[in-house]
Amino acid sequence: MSDHSVIERFRNAGQGQVFAYFDKLSAEGQKALLAQAAEIDLAEIERLNRTLVAAGAATGVNLEGLAPAPYERRPENGGDAARWAAAKQAGEAALRAGRVAAFTVAGGQGTRLGYDGPKGTFAVTPLKQKPLFQVFAEKILAAGKRYGKPLHWFIMTSHANHEATEAFFAEHKYFGLDRGHVHFFRQGRMPAVGFDGKILLEAKDALALSPDGHGGSLRALERSGALDLMQREGVDIISYFQVDNPLVRCIDPAFFGWHVLGKSEMTSKMVPKAYAEEKVGHFCTQGGRTVVVEYSDLPMAQQRETDATGALRYLAGSIAIHVLDREFVRRMAKGGEGVALPFHRADKKIPALDAAGNLVKPEKANGVKFEMFVFDALPFARNPVVIETRRADDFSPVKNATGLDSPQTCRDDQLRQYVRWLRAQGVAVETDATGLPKEAMEVSPLFGYDEDSFADAWAKLSPKPQATAGLYLS
Ligand code: UTP
Repeated sequence: MSDHSVIERFRNAGQGQVFAYFDKLSAEGQKALLAQAAEIDLAEIERLNRTLVAAGAATGVNLEGLAPAPYERRPENGGDAARWAAAKQAGEAALRAGRVAAFTVAGGQGTRLGYDGPKGTFAVTPLKQKPLFQVFAEKILAAGKRYGKPLHWFIMTSHANHEATEAFFAEHKYFGLDRGHVHFFRQGRMPAVGFDGKILLEAKDALALSPDGHGGSLRALERSGALDLMQREGVDIISYFQVDNPLVRCIDPAFFGWHVLGKSEMTSKMVPKAYAEEKVGHFCTQGGRTVVVEYSDLPMAQQRETDATGALRYLAGSIAIHVLDREFVRRMAKGGEGVALPFHRADKKIPALDAAGNLVKPEKANGVKFEMFVFDALPFARNPVVIETRRADDFSPVKNATGLDSPQTCRDDQLRQYVRWLRAQGVAVETDATGLPKEAMEVSPLFGYDEDSFADAWAKLSPKPQATAGLYLS
């Protein structure tokens, strides 16, 4: 498309302000702005302006016919132990056959943590201060050895952190993984708009662009060629997890097995909510489909509703851990009649040029960002399955600098997990009432990355060390 026709297209769409300073830009600046503009799907922006921005912030979610989604309970909570055992076997077979790839979404901006750098480079482990990426890398490496089949690992970055992420891995020699098995690709971007629907500029030669949400990962997997690579390699089971949660059992045979045996296109983990108002999405059904309803969209009365036994009715909280079928992702990415992730509106403070061309950092929300959420794929999936997991085994994200879901809570949860693994082997460990040891210790994922692998490694260990301060099992 010629430069002129790109500009013309924006003018016709009522977005001519994007080129307000175009004539004053250097040739380089003009080229940069045109390249960004060419990325924009103006019809999509027009639709989002109509449906999300013009409609106002309070676009109510349809809650008609909503009910709690069924899920597979863990054996200790009344689930069928034989089916869990069968699932584990099926998942192990899938791992041995090389059908599984790990997939981390790491394109977020991590604003709440306030850390300068890709979030995956943030140090999280209690003793060795390993960064998040290293924790996952070692789990993936160890699982590849355990099942005799190295796993591919796909990492979705953003335009902002892509180079820094790649450089970090190169600097650390891919943490022992085969370079050819680690794949990086950028997620898509969306322009931010003002409350009047006009696309904002962050500089005279740059649109205010931001990552299109973790749901953008489905499109990005397709566009980047990752799905084709998986197909060539015989991978059809994608283990999706977020970069901020080092506890995640990213290689969990039972999880994969439920997915395989259920002929599911998307399988998710739930944890029982810790309390009624916990800020997590809720697994629900609606019109025969599985959906996740955000806490902000579920009326408080429903969040607090209890059943005859006094248990919360909407108990199943989403912790952003999923298994995706490769061809399902392809179908979602290609889209088509009624098959597409919806965009959500987020009102944000967006640094942008004012009418005089000066950059303004607003004190309150001045515009809208558009994001897709991966859990919105669930209603499109055939035979979706939700399984229960123990929070302590799978979920302790680093979201905030302090308080809830912070480096401190995550560190403590890692320590408690090491203690549980040790105690399961009959080792005495001194802790407080919450299971937290007094001093830091650490288990490398290369030693054990879950209860089973830890038990096997411990059995082989001779002599057995004492569980005292500074213990590092590697
Ligand atoms: P969060 O919802 O916690 O967002 O992302 P965030 O951008 O990382 O952090 P805040 O809200 O600015 O503090 C959950 C997961 O989804 C990924 C993040 O990297 C994280 O793993 N994500 C989020 C993306 O990959 N792309 C996005 O556009 C948004």
